[in-house]
Amino acid sequence: MKLWTKRLWKIEYQTNGLNYKVATMKNLNSLCEYLPWDSHLFDIRIARIKKCFLNNREIKQCIRWCRENKITCVYYLVDPARVNSIHLAESSGFHLVDIRVTLETDILASPYINMPLKETMPLVREANRNDIVEIKKIAKENHFDTRFFKDKRFPRDKSAELYELWIEKGFKNVHGIVLVAKIKKKTAGYIVLDISENHTGKIELVGVNNKFRDRGIGGALVCAALRWFNINGAKRATVVTQGTNISALRLYSKWGFLPHETQCWYHLWCLPSEKK
Ligand SMILES: CC(C)(COP(=O)(O)OP(=O)(O)OC[C@H]1O[C@@H](n2cnc3c(N)ncnc32)[C@H](O)[C@@H]1OP(=O)(O)O)[C@@H](O)C(=O)NCCC(=O)NCCS
Repeated sequence: MKLWTKRLWKIEYQTNGLNYKVATMKNLNSLCEYLPWDSHLFDIRIARIKKCFLNNREIKQCIRWCRENKITCVYYLVDPARVNSIHLAESSGFHLVDIRVTLETDILASPYINMPLKETMPLVREANRNDIVEIKKIAKENHFDTRFFKDKRFPRDKSAELYELWIEKGFKNVHGIVLVAKIKKKTAGYIVLDISENHTGKIELVGVNNKFRDRGIGGALVCAALRWFNINGAKRATVVTQGTNISALRLYSKWGFLPHETQCWYHLWCLPSEKK
C-alpha cells in the first residue's frame, strides 16, 4: 500500500469520527471504482477493478468493498500472464466472460493510406443524422459476441441498447467520426472512430449488416478509417476485439493490424446466494 494512502486511511479512521467503512472506501480507491454509466444502463450497481492483477489480500479487499458498497457486478480485466491472479480470481468466484485482444498498426508506415481504391469497393462516407436510425438498428443486432451477451445475467435488450448508445456517442464525439458503407442506397456497415491526444486513432466499433458480410465491406470501412486517421494526424491506430471473433481478427490482420495485448475479462456477481 502506498504511504500516502496508508496515511489517508489512518487520518480518516482516527480523527474524523467517520466509521470504518468510509476509511476502507478511501483506502480502496486505487483498486475499485464505481461505474455510474454502466450502473445506470443495466439498473444495478456495477464497479470495476482497476488493476490487472491482484494478490490474495487485495482480491479479498475488493470483494469486501463490493459488498459494503452494494455492488451487484464487478468487472475485472486480468493479465493472463499472471497465472496466479487468474487462479485467485476463479477461486474467488469470478467467471471468465471474454478474451480481449488489442491490435495496433503504424499509420505512417501503412501501405493502405495512399493505395488507389478499387472501383469495386463500396462507397464509404461520413454518416449523417439521416443514417443514424439504420446504423443503430444494425448495431443493436451485431455485437452478440461481446461479454455483455456472453454473460447471461445481463438482459439482452439492455446489452443491445449499449451498442445503440455507443453509436450515438460516436456521433456526438468532437474528436471522432462515424463512417457508413452504402450499397445501392442501403446501409451495409458502419465504423466509429476516435483520435486521442497522443495521436492514436481508435476504432471504437465496426459492424456490417449480416446480409452484406464477406464481400469486403468490413475491409472498405477499415481502409477508410486508416485514411481518416492519417488525414487527422494519428500516428498509430488501435482496435479491441474478442479473441473468439475470428472474422474481426482476420479483417484487422488483413489491413495491417498486429496483436498488441491479450487480456481476460472476468465478472463477479455479488448476489446474496453467491456470498463466499
Ligand atoms: C467483423 C465484420 C465487421 C467483418 O465484416 P465483413 O464485411 O464480412 O468483412 P470482409 O468481407 O472485409 O472480411 C472478413 C474476413 O473474415 C473472414 N471470415 C468471415 N467469417 C469468418 C468465419 N466465420 N471464419 C473465418 N473467417 C471468416 C472472411 O473470409 C474475410 O477474410 P479474407 O478477406 O481473408 O477472406 C463482420 O463480420 C461483423 O459485422 N461482425 C459483427 C460485429 C463485429 O464483430 N465487429 C467487430 C468487433 S467490434
